[in-house]
Amino acid sequence: MSGSTITPWVIGNWKMNPMQADASALLQDFKQLLNNQNIAEDSCHIGVAPVAIALSAVRDELKQANRKILTVAQDLSRKAGTGAYTGEISAELLKDSAIEFVLVGHSERREIFGDHPQIINEKVKNALNAGLGVIYCVGESLEQRESGQAEHVVLQQICDIAAVVQPAQWKSIVVAYEPIWAIGTGKTASPADAQAMHAKIREGLSQITPEGQQMAILYGGSVKPENAVELAACPDINGALVGGASLNAESFYQIAQAFANTK
Ligand code: 13P
Repeated sequence: MSGSTITPWVIGNWKMNPMQADASALLQDFKQLLNNQNIAEDSCHIGVAPVAIALSAVRDELKQANRKILTVAQDLSRKAGTGAYTGEISAELLKDSAIEFVLVGHSERREIFGDHPQIINEKVKNALNAGLGVIYCVGESLEQRESGQAEHVVLQQICDIAAVVQPAQWKSIVVAYEPIWAIGTGKTASPADAQAMHAKIREGLSQITPEGQQMAILYGGSVKPENAVELAACPDINGALVGGASLNAESFYQIAQAFANTK
């Protein structure tokens, strides 16, 4: 037991996966595992983040689970409301579809799609103002880690959003630390390294907001059943943002169970 009073979060980020039939089978299998042995709602928040086109179907499918499972959007528009913005989905449209949370600042968005800090701030602001919860992703590259800049980079990413978050909105933010070199590579940060960065993030958050001590900080980057128990035992690791392993019902279930059991 870590002694943390923060309820853990285990969120599956499906990224640009899977095809409809596989998504449906994955959810059925996951719900079946929960039917066999449920994970108490107060022991872990569980959610999945499907592709945008599947959000409504997944939301409906998850209503039939025997516990709450959040449907999380992977991204949102930098533009708010409605209007002539081809291809975009605003915070208000997500909210209107009963979506409660959205990922912002994932390294794949930052690196591949040009989401620089100003765009990310617009997205964070829109999400919070529309009443969505934000899972805000931060993390350094291998080059930044090897040159000793990891902490500086991550804390800067935390400070970046402080310009747009109102004091009362911090409680709607969950932070996810995902070192880029650990994403999809099979390499996980050691629990000690991850814990050290999480403690720094908590310190940084606490300098910005009194909520900092109670905010959940998730780890992401090759989380799997084999390393989940050790990661979950770290006091400042309050959950996981899971990519590849969330596409397998059994693995995702075991990760959720690992976090639910240790907190
Ligand atoms: P993997 O678990 O596949 O490394 O992905 C992590 C991630 O990017 C979750 O957002």
